[in-house]
Amino acid sequence: MASTIRDISGQDTVSIADLYTQVRARTMQIVAPLEIEDYVIQTADFMSPPRWHIGHTSWFFETVLRAYKPDYRVYSEDFLFYFNSYYEGFGERIERPKRGTKSRPTVKETVAYRNHIDEQILLLLRSLASLANAETVLSLVRLGLEHEMQHQELLVYDIKHLLCDQYDAPMKPRPKPLIKVDGMAEIEGGLFWLGYEAPHSEEAPQSGNFAFDNEKPSHQVFLQDFAIDKAPVSNGEYLEFIRDGGYQNFRWWFSEGWETVNREQWRAPHYWEFHDGEWMIRDFFGLHTAASRKDDPVSHVSYFEASAFAKWADKRLPSESEWEKAACYDAQRQVRNAFPWGDADPDCGNTNLFENGFWSVAPIGAVPEGANAHGCQQMIGDVWEWTTSDYVPYPGFKSEFDEYNDKWFVNQKVLRGGSFATPQLHIRATYRNFFHAHERWMISGFRCARDM
Ligand SMILES: [Fe+2]
Repeated sequence: MASTIRDISGQDTVSIADLYTQVRARTMQIVAPLEIEDYVIQTADFMSPPRWHIGHTSWFFETVLRAYKPDYRVYSEDFLFYFNSYYEGFGERIERPKRGTKSRPTVKETVAYRNHIDEQILLLLRSLASLANAETVLSLVRLGLEHEMQHQELLVYDIKHLLCDQYDAPMKPRPKPLIKVDGMAEIEGGLFWLGYEAPHSEEAPQSGNFAFDNEKPSHQVFLQDFAIDKAPVSNGEYLEFIRDGGYQNFRWWFSEGWETVNREQWRAPHYWEFHDGEWMIRDFFGLHTAASRKDDPVSHVSYFEASAFAKWADKRLPSESEWEKAACYDAQRQVRNAFPWGDADPDCGNTNLFENGFWSVAPIGAVPEGANAHGCQQMIGDVWEWTTSDYVPYPGFKSEFDEYNDKWFVNQKVLRGGSFATPQLHIRATYRNFFHAHERWMISGFRCARDM
């Protein structure tokens, strides 16, 4: 593994130790505006208290210390129990819905644990030269940093669920749309190489240094010709579906989706509220009319809702292969790019990711530099996009870390592209996120496709 790596600002290359320090510091920046009471509350079974995230990400690094640091002594057996998420191989753990039922370890104790782990990991990295399995340690620390970035995004979802507009983050003003985007891009079918392939040359993008095992190996798939929306579906378009009685008409819904709509009394996406005859959306900034946010990508919709909208619109959702080909393949030049705009790494000009600091989706047309060769906008950033693809292993899949990705290959759908809460260093066009069809507390949206 390379000894230097792109830093989180994308400006420089740094050592793994420096990257470790940067990534760990950002987690603490995200929780910095919280009051002590906020850290321990669990507002739903599916979210975790912020205290748990800052401890769990440290627990993950402690598993590396336990395996590879000579004479390492476990910090606390109680912490191993409370901060393990779902790893059977690492022993007993508290059930997820009960993470908010305990006031201990305290926040202060959790931060002390975190600082201890940081000290120990940095010592381990300094002594790498003397370790027989230095390569393994390096790759596990890198995995731990990607894991930490996943939890940074989860922290944004969970803090939104916990506090929403009461959270006092340093939010930058939202950008304005610069261009109008509508219509669909027509993509020619044929054989397409799906998935991640490690870069061969020096010019390859630095972010190409890491990919999860579930993005590999790169393999050929056959696609029919198809068309895909140039923009994600907007709040304005989704509002039309609601006003047309979309949530009252079984014919748009999968049977399981229709059951969920009725059981959960869904009438609109999560975070939408009905006040005085008008749909409103609550976000980190406050409460706004949906009409005033009509040009934003719709977010906080489940797979069921995305699919129902698509059927109502006489379209369908894309498969993940269609999404990836639309995002990356430049038919005119007959090359596959790392990202929709080319091989350059994501930055604040071509995407809306965590570093933009908006804490919000950007209106459609606000990021024209990120367009692909077909004029598709905002495929990376803003909202994770639902696809019809089941989350299953690619042919030839080999697990690189037990229980990380491999044990989730059932009953979930793939989402692509990252959201405004995803760090720049963490996203790739081949990244496969996955959630259950009913979930919608994460920043999930979609764009539609159509057969040709
Ligand atoms: Fe985790």
